[in-house]
Amino acid sequence: MIKLGVIFGGESVEHEVSIISAVQAMNKLDTEKYEIIPIYITKDREWYTGDALKDIETYQDIDLLKRYSTNVVLYYRKGRFVLQSKGLFKRIVKDVDIILPVVHGTNVEDGVLQGYLRSIGIPFVGSDVASSAVSQDKVFQKHIFASSDLPITKYVWFYDSEYNDDSEEIIKKVEKLKYPVIVKPANLGSSVGISKAKNQEELVKAIEDAINYDNKIVVEEVVSNLIEVNISVLGNYENMNLSEIEQVMTDNDLLTYEDKYIGGKKKFGSSKGMASASRKIPADIDDKLKEEVRSIATRAFRELNSSGVVRIDFLIDAKKGKVYINEINSCPGSLSFYLWEPIGKKYSELLDDMINIAIKDYKKRTSKTHSFKTNILQGFTGTKGLKGMKNTKLK
Ligand SMILES: Nc1ncnc2c1ncn2[C@@H]1O[C@H](COP(=O)(O)OP(=O)(O)O)[C@@H](O)[C@H]1O
Ligand SMILES: [Mg+2]
Repeated sequence: MIKLGVIFGGESVEHEVSIISAVQAMNKLDTEKYEIIPIYITKDREWYTGDALKDIETYQDIDLLKRYSTNVVLYYRKGRFVLQSKGLFKRIVKDVDIILPVVHGTNVEDGVLQGYLRSIGIPFVGSDVASSAVSQDKVFQKHIFASSDLPITKYVWFYDSEYNDDSEEIIKKVEKLKYPVIVKPANLGSSVGISKAKNQEELVKAIEDAINYDNKIVVEEVVSNLIEVNISVLGNYENMNLSEIEQVMTDNDLLTYEDKYIGGKKKFGSSKGMASASRKIPADIDDKLKEEVRSIATRAFRELNSSGVVRIDFLIDAKKGKVYINEINSCPGSLSFYLWEPIGKKYSELLDDMINIAIKDYKKRTSKTHSFKTNILQGFTGTKGLKGMKNTKLK
């Protein structure tokens, strides 16, 4: 039996979405193969474990949740990875073999959680630190896509301070793009802080809104005659599989948080997560466009050294028949299971595959040389070098 810690939540605007994705996954994991250990990170960064966390109802009352679960830390202890209770009487609550992060957004999906897991040495499912970090930042992604000749929309980016110092200069730079444009905080998700602008007045409003969410802003040309399609990729750099392509529909001007997660229903407990957005599977586009989507998806997955399951989102100008890659989600909502079922892969099999890939990646990584047993600091006698540094003035 594999002791599988499922980590979710965290200090992210997509906290609730992550709870939904994780509870879905925990309900689908094969309990003959895995002992499922929920590890929930609250919005104030406390870690909890306990069986009550497998139930969506638990999250309706955070005080009750805390009472029925145990506040823990995850760390490495004498060859084991353990969840230990905090407080006066510390005890080891659980051993964990491997982690399945089901996290969305900043502070968790963006390499931050992955960095912690790597630093204590526990194997985990999904993309590694650098890949996760790049996948969370719309500007970094675009730079990599551009340098790999993947088709992206025309864009400009800047920091909030640059805008605050000289907004005219920034507006001038942005207006090299053609209106309408779309303004996005570089690091959020779920359409938070994103708006379109048809003219300068709207642009200023959109930028000033986006700045509330992030210090890095990206503005891009709007794709007209828009069809939005997504595809999921499963694997690692050695072996990639492609899912069915979905087409995402919306009544709004752009796909909003509500479209993605609430699906018309307001009640949190009944939400189906990404599985509820209105969508057509398979997407209603011709084979040539599908082929292009598949080929770009594989190349993007490879460039970013992704692992596990990701979802790659595209914007298509239907009139021109032009495909643009929009973004990659290193830990997609609902782990994209609804894109695999139509091609015959059950959710529980998808999860098995993801976990197997992680175990393989881990074995491979630990077989490479990472540190040397001899301690080079042993022969280190003085602090001359350090003293010398004090005198070096930074320019
Ligand atoms: N260049 C664009 N042209 C037209 N619509 C866009 C463009 N970029 C984003 N959108 C719309 O905005 C939505 C959210 O943007 P996206 O970049 O996917 O951010 P998020 O990370 O929040 O999902 C997209 O799903 C799409 O509907
Ligand atoms: Mg998106």
